[in-house]
Amino acid sequence: MTELEALYTQIITCESCGLCKTRTQAVPGEGAENAEIMFVGEGPGFHEDQQGRPFIGAAGKFLDELLGSISLTRSDVYICNVVKCRPPGNRDPVPEEVDACRPFLLRQIELVDPKLIVTLGRFSLSWFFPRDAIGKVRGSLRQMGGRHYYHVYHPAAALHNGNLRQVINDDFANIPRVLETIREDTPVVAAAPAPTEQGRLF
Ligand code: URA
Repeated sequence: MTELEALYTQIITCESCGLCKTRTQAVPGEGAENAEIMFVGEGPGFHEDQQGRPFIGAAGKFLDELLGSISLTRSDVYICNVVKCRPPGNRDPVPEEVDACRPFLLRQIELVDPKLIVTLGRFSLSWFFPRDAIGKVRGSLRQMGGRHYYHVYHPAAALHNGNLRQVINDDFANIPRVLETIREDTPVVAAAPAPTEQGRLF
């Protein structure tokens, strides 16, 4: 069993917050254990809760399309969420739930050790950069605590909004170039990010 698989065992049996009472199953995350790119969403929805896999509903199908547009598939990247259990009715997770899940995402980042973390939507953005607004920072590459971050709108938000859809398409189209910039210029230090707002715009 890999360390990541051992972490999944902890996640699916976790009872650290009230979401364990309403979930069908936890959704740890999936993808390449040594992926260069980690995508971080908000939390599981109905379908994810049923199947135990991240981003498999309508937003997930759109995410697959976006990945395809830059010649990637799910198995090339790593996909997970800020919270691993579905908040009832798809409400936003509350701070206690986010805090209870925090060690899991920190450990996933440490184990996968991605070159680039792509935050999907405002909720994921604020986990890493609490003060920032998605409309201002989307499409920018930043560095914090030895890691690189790139922010895009959430696929669910962009799915039915023509303007946002164009923006997320464009922001995804830049990901290969962003990754190239990181590979060429900046050595990545293997350290978990401190969730502070001390980001730097490139
Ligand atoms: N939205 C998310 O943020 N995560 C999922 O896994 C599915 C939908």
